[in-house]
Amino acid sequence: MSALWTAAEAARATAGTVGGDWHATGVSIDSRTLAPGELFVALEDARDGHDFVADALARDAAAAVVARVPEGVDPTCLVVVDDTQKGLEALGAAARGRSGARVVGITGSVGKTGAKTALARGLARQGATHASAKSHNNHWGVPLSLANLPPDVAFGVFEMGMNHAGEIRRLTRQVRPEVALVTAIAPAHLENFDDESGIARAKAEIFEGLEAGGRAVVPADSPHTPLLASAARACGCSRVLSFGAGGDVDVVSVTAEPDGSSVEASVVGRRLRYRLGVPGAHWVTNSLGLLAVVAALDADLEDFAASLASLRAEPGRGRARTIAVAGGTATLLDDAYNANPASMRAALDVLAASSGRKLAALGAMKELGPTTAALHADLAQPIATAGVERVFTVGAEMTALAEALPAHRHAGHGEVATDLVERVRAELRPGDTLLVKGSLAAGMGALVTALVGEGG
Ligand SMILES: Nc1ncnc2c1ncn2[C@@H]1O[C@H](COP(=O)(O)OP(=O)(O)O)[C@@H](O)[C@H]1O
Ligand SMILES: [Mg+2]
Repeated sequence: MSALWTAAEAARATAGTVGGDWHATGVSIDSRTLAPGELFVALEDARDGHDFVADALARDAAAAVVARVPEGVDPTCLVVVDDTQKGLEALGAAARGRSGARVVGITGSVGKTGAKTALARGLARQGATHASAKSHNNHWGVPLSLANLPPDVAFGVFEMGMNHAGEIRRLTRQVRPEVALVTAIAPAHLENFDDESGIARAKAEIFEGLEAGGRAVVPADSPHTPLLASAARACGCSRVLSFGAGGDVDVVSVTAEPDGSSVEASVVGRRLRYRLGVPGAHWVTNSLGLLAVVAALDADLEDFAASLASLRAEPGRGRARTIAVAGGTATLLDDAYNANPASMRAALDVLAASSGRKLAALGAMKELGPTTAALHADLAQPIATAGVERVFTVGAEMTALAEALPAHRHAGHGEVATDLVERVRAELRPGDTLLVKGSLAAGMGALVTALVGEGG
């Protein structure tokens, strides 16, 4: 493994004091997942990382970035800085500064991680690509992702998330994207904003970090499109590409299939046909945004479009699983990782297009603020439109939906997801499709685990 950071480089980047000589193959902030040879940064965040420095070094960390020297730790393996959060950001900034990568930044209310993963895997066919791991999109996730950017890759793809105004501004100035994508604006994290345009303004902060001559990619058919486009231009953006209905990148025709879509699209005047290996209209829209990014990078559009055929929904984000039920098998759509009104509707659309009898087990959508009850109750309509026969609800917030559903459609309510395991099992018949979805904190993953069982 080649060195990502030498002791001298880490010292220079962080203005820290380095004892010995070493080199690290990566950067980690978690001693439990740290790989041998990585540089451990002792963040003082949810927990104090200084308590885990000895553990990290025992797991063969190359060295640790600390703000104070923990007792009994070999000082030659340390970089001592004033503040480890700033130290991590300094490593990220230095990695970004020395990199020649074409960098794409992604934000939005939904679809960031999916878009990041799909973009990175498609670009990797055209040149070495580094992307944020998992959903690492916050005040430590973004600098950590940057600190792990190898100097010699062709592309870098970074996800940025937020709960409050001002957070994306700080992140995008670290990422310095050449192309900035806003996937969608929707009610998510509404509790910290007066309204959706407040969310749009906060997402538009991504353009403040654009490199000179940078490009912006925004949804075409959102009420917030004008706000996003003008914010991009105000930041000196050289080109704004829009995607979706009426945009620079739009669908010419689409055939929805249970396990994907066949799409013909117009991409800035060019016709492309491709197959998309993940189902749902929302994924068709996401793919248009990604093609706009590839066009903005002037990379190979046809090759990128071809990569979308082998894309698959990830566990927790719509992955279809076959489960055993009395007398046969049924399909479980595992969407338990995340939920807000937009992604609930998207998932219900996918359920609508699936085969057999349609059922749903829906957990609470968190962080929606004062209108949360209405936003939950409003799901009754898309549930009816999707032809869902039986709906299980989970969690206090979901009682609003339980009350809004016609009695024949409401199959039961649980305080927690596992309350429903037996009732859902008893309800399922061979050939059914069951959607399981809710915010991560609603714990719907436990129902997925129980229904999939050991063999899954
Ligand atoms: N454009 C979209 N509109 C609505 N829902 C979407 C869209 N893109 C993805 N989703 C759904 O949103 C959920 C979260 O997706 P993810 O990519 O993890 O988003 P994020 O990283 O922004 O939280 C998943 O259920 C996914 O299927
Ligand atoms: Mg994410």
